[in-house]
Amino acid sequence: MDRTQAAKELERLAKLIAHHDYCYFTLANPKISDEQYDALRRQNQELEALFPDLRRLDSPSHRIGSPVSSQFDKVKHRKPLLSLDNVFNEKEFADFGKKLRRFLKMPEDVSIPMLAEPKIDGLSASLHYQDGQFVLGATRGDGQEGENITANLRTVRDLPLGLLGENIPKSLEIRGEVYMKLADFEELNAKRRQQDEQAFANPRNAAAGSLRQLDSTVTAARPVHFFAYYAQSLEGNLVENQSELLQKLQTWGFVVNPHHKLCNTFDEMIKYYQTMQEVRQTLDYEIDGLVFKVNDLRLQERLGVVGRAPRHSIAFKFAAQQAETIVDDIILQVGRTGVITPVAVLQPVIVGGVTVSRATLHNEEEIRRKDIRIKDTVIVQRAGDVIPQVVKVKTSKRSSDSQVYCFTANCPCCNSHLYQTPGQIAKRCLNGFGCEDQAIQRLIHFVSRDALNIDGLGEKHISRFYSLNLITTPVDIFTLEDRNKTLKESLETWEGWGKQSAQNLWDAINKVRTLPLDKLIYALGIPQIGQTTAKLLAKHFMVFERFLETILKAHQNDSVVHKELMPIEGIGHGMARDIIDFFQQKYNLQMVEGLLKHITVLPYEVASNLPLSGKTVVFTGGLEHISRSEAKAQAEKLGAKVGSAVSAQTTFVVAGKDAGQKLKAAKELGIQVIDETAWQEMVAGL
Ligand code: IVH
Repeated sequence: MDRTQAAKELERLAKLIAHHDYCYFTLANPKISDEQYDALRRQNQELEALFPDLRRLDSPSHRIGSPVSSQFDKVKHRKPLLSLDNVFNEKEFADFGKKLRRFLKMPEDVSIPMLAEPKIDGLSASLHYQDGQFVLGATRGDGQEGENITANLRTVRDLPLGLLGENIPKSLEIRGEVYMKLADFEELNAKRRQQDEQAFANPRNAAAGSLRQLDSTVTAARPVHFFAYYAQSLEGNLVENQSELLQKLQTWGFVVNPHHKLCNTFDEMIKYYQTMQEVRQTLDYEIDGLVFKVNDLRLQERLGVVGRAPRHSIAFKFAAQQAETIVDDIILQVGRTGVITPVAVLQPVIVGGVTVSRATLHNEEEIRRKDIRIKDTVIVQRAGDVIPQVVKVKTSKRSSDSQVYCFTANCPCCNSHLYQTPGQIAKRCLNGFGCEDQAIQRLIHFVSRDALNIDGLGEKHISRFYSLNLITTPVDIFTLEDRNKTLKESLETWEGWGKQSAQNLWDAINKVRTLPLDKLIYALGIPQIGQTTAKLLAKHFMVFERFLETILKAHQNDSVVHKELMPIEGIGHGMARDIIDFFQQKYNLQMVEGLLKHITVLPYEVASNLPLSGKTVVFTGGLEHISRSEAKAQAEKLGAKVGSAVSAQTTFVVAGKDAGQKLKAAKELGIQVIDETAWQEMVAGL
């Protein structure tokens, strides 16, 4: 066979095998026997071995996986991968509908048709297709940036390597959920336990763990599946609504969850939610609620985004699943910020298809309130990826000699006396980096993906470096390369390390010597300061020096707290206190000062490349065609700041019907005024 014939034959085999994958995985209706299928795969493999350079992007041999490089590359998402807001009951769900109508200026009695879909409890992934070929697959990451897991996703049979059918879009980005079936999860865990490997806590973690394999042959051997459910971007007007999209996805060769339903009225939505609560018990994979999506894609576009979630969709969560078991023991864990968390060690019990053997007891107060004792029979529950919890004790089953649980006064790790902040429930060990459990977790947090994101410095490495006294504080990370040169046994000679992997580590560390302000604030691990709050602080203070100076002043001067910290939307009193306290601890301040000798903190970056970046718009008067919220959202999407009062800083004023004071002020200040139609034209034109 010559090259041209081989190329033709490889194309035929790729298409044929893809067709049989589609029959088997998407339609669950195989057309040939397993033997016939295997023979086709073998033929393809043999031909590729003869002509390796003719291996196609959509070749079925990608399904087997291949050992890949030492790390995942980062992928900056073209459009952020959003999350969903949650509601937990009918009233909240009804409020969601009201908000939609208000935003769209629709009458109260109009129902907006919604597509209901199961909310799969897995891991979100985005898939890019170019000219019908699967070219890039990424994790969601923080929504802005994920990891390139293309090779691993290629091994997942539920997604097409090449889109099937006619009318294929030139470019397409699909979102869906990678998940593991309950039975496969239990089997995988049983195998892991047998091999003395740590079991996965739930199917979601198992799916995530399977995808984060540097060697995709490992992923290929894991039973991971994929449901497609959203078009992140889709060229051309191929579909008009979400239900059509799901059909289209299926014809392209994706597996779509079968339990979706178009609901026209509120009652239909509630009824379907109740039905699915029953169906959930029979499914062989986990769902933790329903997602309701406005069916009309044009309305979806108009509704836009608020924060990290689209306005057009909502997750209506199910109640947690419950079961009965016995508490074998209560142990105490020390968290990253020193908080002591008691944990119940349970006799393993299956809750909603998953074996549970531990549950959090939160704190001393919770144990006292529920009077949980060792040997008690308890009801436990789990909700999605939330840690299992003890709901209540069955006191009728309690033995007469049982004793009230007595909480320790000292840290179970370093034995220092525990402290309780007045007004707070949790007991804390204040020994910080002096307490091994805390130090290790703080270091792990510092280098973690959402913080400094130092590749190749994972939990295992941190623990090892810590135990050898090589990294005991964040500053040590930046001096390690120099110190390594004088070590008797340098890193390059350690088991599992070599010249190249050591060099990779130095490169990864050097790469983060320059970092954005919000990442540093988050990485410090200040209690209560998550990514969102870190961003708020960074946006407010812009540079680290000003942040630090203000926080140190705030300790002595309450008016600084009120003037500088409290006006930041999203910062409460408790948070302000925690930030101030953090820098009052001498050790923390010294650590930060030490760090600044090794790193450069970039000022917070305000997006400056949008059409209205740097401009301030003020809306006044009644808008006729859109709601005030939609107008505000339009402006913010284009990069503008929306002001509430007219001042010299205002770029222009959009004046609706009966505009009063603000219009007057604008005229006096000589600020440009436009009407609603002009605003809409401007939005459409930008
Ligand atoms: S739609 C822009 N549909 O739930 C909207 N998400 O809590 C994109 N999820 O990050 C999401 N099943 O990982 C959508 N049928 C479904 C889903 C679903 C599960 C996940 C998804 C998302 C998370 C939000």
